[in-house]
Amino acid sequence: MLVEIHKERRIGGNVKEKIMQLEEGALRAVHAAESLADIEQVRLQYMGKKGELTAVLRNMKDVAPEERPMIGSLVNEAKQKVEDAIAEFTQKLKQLDIEKRLESESIDITMPATMPKRGRIHPLSRTYRRIVEIFTGMGFTLKDGPHIDTVFHNFDALNSPADHPARAMTDTFYITEDVLLRTHTSPVQIRVAKNQKPPIRVFSVGRAYRNDTPDPTHSPVFYQVEGLVIDKNVRLTDLKGTLEQFSKMMFGESTEIKLRPHYFPFTEPSGEVDVSCFKCGGSGCRVCKGSGWIEILGCGMVHPNVLKNCGIDPNEYSGFAFGMGLDRINMLKYGIDDIRVLYENDKRVLDEF
Ligand code: DAH
Repeated sequence: MLVEIHKERRIGGNVKEKIMQLEEGALRAVHAAESLADIEQVRLQYMGKKGELTAVLRNMKDVAPEERPMIGSLVNEAKQKVEDAIAEFTQKLKQLDIEKRLESESIDITMPATMPKRGRIHPLSRTYRRIVEIFTGMGFTLKDGPHIDTVFHNFDALNSPADHPARAMTDTFYITEDVLLRTHTSPVQIRVAKNQKPPIRVFSVGRAYRNDTPDPTHSPVFYQVEGLVIDKNVRLTDLKGTLEQFSKMMFGESTEIKLRPHYFPFTEPSGEVDVSCFKCGGSGCRVCKGSGWIEILGCGMVHPNVLKNCGIDPNEYSGFAFGMGLDRINMLKYGIDDIRVLYENDKRVLDEF
C-alpha cells in the first residue's frame, strides 16, 4: 500500500514538473519568435492536437485518479498562459511588421522626379494632319482605299497603257498576276468614281509602294495625297484655283504657283505644279536648288477614258485630279535630306523636328 501511494505521488510530482517545464519552454519560444510563422510553430508544438501540453491531458490515465483534477487544471493554466503570450506576441509582431513596411515603403516627396519622356507627333503625321485640315476645309471628303488592290484599279481603269514601264515587275510589287500593292493613291479615284454619282469632291492620303531600293530619295513605301473633283463644267481654272489655295495654306500666303505641261495617262491635259520656294521666297537657295521654284505635284483634267471606265458620261461631266508626294513636301518643309529618316523612326533624329 505504501509503495503504491509513493509510486503515485512520484508520478504526480513528475507530471507537475513536466507541465512546468513545458510551460517554460513554450513561453521562452514565444518570446524568442521573430515572425508569425515562428509563433504558429510554437502553437503546433505545444498546443496542437499532437502538441506536448495536449499530450499530458491525453496521458491522464497514467495519473492517479485523485490527482487528475489537479493535473488537469495545471495543464489548463499552462495552456492559458501560453495562449495569452501567443496573443500578446502575435499583436506585437503584427505591429512591428506594419512599422517595418511603413518605413520601407515610405516615399521621399522631396526627391527630384525623373520626368516621363514625352512622345511627339511624327513629322509625316503633322503634315498629314495639316493636309486633311486644308482639304476638308475646302469641302473635300476624306476617302480611304485598300493598299492591296487590283491591276484594274491601279493601272487599267486609269487609262495606263498595257506596256507602260510602271507596270513592270521591277517597279511594282505584284502579289498575283492581277493583284498588287498599289503604286500610287490614284486607284482611290477609280473606286470613288465607280461608286458615287457626281458631284464628287474627295481626297485621300495614304501609303503607296514601289519596288525601289532605299536611298536618300527613294523608299519602297511612301505617302501620297490624291484629289478628285467631278461635276458639270469643271474647268482647268478650277484646278488651278484649288491648288493655288492649297499651296498658300500649306506653305504661306505669299506662295505662288506655276503650272507646267506634263504627261499622265489618266489626265488630259496634264501638268506639274511648282510652288515658289517657301524658304527663300523665290530668290534661289539650297532647298529650291537656286531656281526659286519647287515641284510639288502632278495634276490634270480627268481623261474621258477614265470617266467612261467608271460609268460617267464625259459629255455631261468633267473633272480634275491631282496627286502629290507627302514625303517630299515633308522633307522640304523640315529640311530633311534623306527620305529614310521618315521610316527608320530613330527617336533621337525625330526629336529634332
Ligand atoms: N499618280 C501619280 C503618280 O504617282 C500622281 C498623279 C498625277 C495623280 C496626276 C493624279 C494626277 O491624280 O492627276 O505619280
